[in-house]
Amino acid sequence: MSRNRNRRNALFLFLSFVFSTACQSKLHLVEPSQGRTLESYQAVGKKAMVVTPNREATKIGIAVLKKGGSAVDAAIAVSFALSVLRPQSTGLGGGGFMLIYDHKNKKTVALNFREFAPLKSKANMFIKKGVLDPKLAQEGGLAVAVPRFVAGMGDIYDFYASKKVPWSDLIGPSIDLAERGFSVYPHLAHAIEEKRDVLNHFSPSKNIFVPNGNPLKEGEMLIQKDLAKTLKAVAQKGWAGFYQGPIAADILRSVQRAGGIMTIDDLWHVEPIPAEPVASTYRGYKIVSMPPPSSGGITLMEILNILENFPIARQGPYNPKTVHEVVEAMKRAFLDRAKYLGDPRFIKMPVKGLLSKEYAEELAGSIDPQKATPSKNLSPLESNSSLHESTTHFSIVDEEGNAVASTQTINGYFGSGLVAQGSGIVLNNEMDDFSIEPGVPNAYGLIGGEANVVAPGKIPLSSMTPTFVFDSKGDLVFVLGSPGGPKIITAVLETLLHSIDFKAKPLEAVAAKRYHHQWIPDVLQYEEGIFSQKLERQLTAMGHSLQETKAPWLIMLIARSKEGFIGVSDPRGVGSAIGE
Ligand code: DON
Repeated sequence: MSRNRNRRNALFLFLSFVFSTACQSKLHLVEPSQGRTLESYQAVGKKAMVVTPNREATKIGIAVLKKGGSAVDAAIAVSFALSVLRPQSTGLGGGGFMLIYDHKNKKTVALNFREFAPLKSKANMFIKKGVLDPKLAQEGGLAVAVPRFVAGMGDIYDFYASKKVPWSDLIGPSIDLAERGFSVYPHLAHAIEEKRDVLNHFSPSKNIFVPNGNPLKEGEMLIQKDLAKTLKAVAQKGWAGFYQGPIAADILRSVQRAGGIMTIDDLWHVEPIPAEPVASTYRGYKIVSMPPPSSGGITLMEILNILENFPIARQGPYNPKTVHEVVEAMKRAFLDRAKYLGDPRFIKMPVKGLLSKEYAEELAGSIDPQKATPSKNLSPLESNSSLHESTTHFSIVDEEGNAVASTQTINGYFGSGLVAQGSGIVLNNEMDDFSIEPGVPNAYGLIGGEANVVAPGKIPLSSMTPTFVFDSKGDLVFVLGSPGGPKIITAVLETLLHSIDFKAKPLEAVAAKRYHHQWIPDVLQYEEGIFSQKLERQLTAMGHSLQETKAPWLIMLIARSKEGFIGVSDPRGVGSAIGE
């Protein structure tokens, strides 16, 4: 009898082991875009890796590395290439953030070349005839914050590039792409269609993207002659030329004609700001990310710190406990984002406190294990949310071990919808990232308070989260980031949870379906098919209000592996990874 029992026990143990490992490792993955295989989004490189959301841009980056250029050199070339190839999401009329890891000196610098509010801005500038008009922060001249992309690239070249590849050679391939044109891909065609009305409204935008009133369709050629001319001028005269003379005049004229308040004085203040990144730890790893005026790093770290108090690895990714704990942690961190974070040159922030493990433990203790805390009990504000799919992230590692993670944007699809007449630059609508009035939601449903109100020269709060992760030996093990507005933070978070807690391979960690909560609105947004019906019922019973969402994410991940590096471009998009 005891032999039988032993056998039964052994069988039970074996089956429960198989079952639990299967449960833990089997993530629910998305279908790759455009009929591609999942594997086509991944590459292995012995020495170096470039991962971008566009295959042409990846090729341009890898060509720079092959010429002996560094990760920073490749990053400049890729940034210009993406500005041509993804005009719906990034470009010379926008800005961004870049993390640069200098392997020799074991140092990371965080560069801020994000747009700022024109000097004539006022806190009440979106109130017309006594009525707040949020559209003014999203479309047309008033929506445009002062672009710093070109100054950012120039500064990065001057202070961080290897100088093995000349500035003009880094821009050369992008000039060709703008001049010769390229075939419109489905995501771009979709963005043009979605924004056809506003593009149609401004003739320089219409001429390029909606010629004769017909939005460019998949397979048609997008040629950007004026942008090619502008890029040539920047390549020949250096970055400063962009902010003086004819290009500056084009930008100012177009913005002012469309009701904007930008003047030449604004263009004197475009130099990027280097900063110390924010850093924290998660289960023995060191996380390094973007400091304010991005909320990305702090919010990500606050969520991770809270989650350190729960055994989510043991529970598995689709255990109702895990999802509940992750969502409740997201809510609390996003509330702090809205309450405390903004441009550090304008406000004081309790960064140390927000990042402390004790504070996280307190927040973890406030989570009811059985019940969702209604967001209104955490704060009385209300809003609703909508979605835009824009912005661009790329990740690069070179053979010396240097790395770049950069997220760049013009905010919504085609930013303000305004293209500068004569120079082909799509102008951002970054003013919408301010809290235009406390409690009033922006295009992402985000609300904010005093910390993020408009002021002259102030930088709107961002969610962009370019991130590095180092292991306990100090080796760089992950480089990543994504577009997606506030969903950037949770996409980076979940990619890290899948990699660190659930031991997923890089391709699975990126392809895994995602969920998101940003405190307000009080809804748990999820990608179709991530939760089983049973799990949906369990979460609903706990008080979570579930809502399916589209996916604006494009995670670009580089992970260190035994072979060298594994690069993964998010299969939700059309990008690629190429290794060396
Ligand atoms: O800085 C931010 O947080 C936003 N302007 C980013 C916009 C974005 O990611 C749009 N993509 N979905």
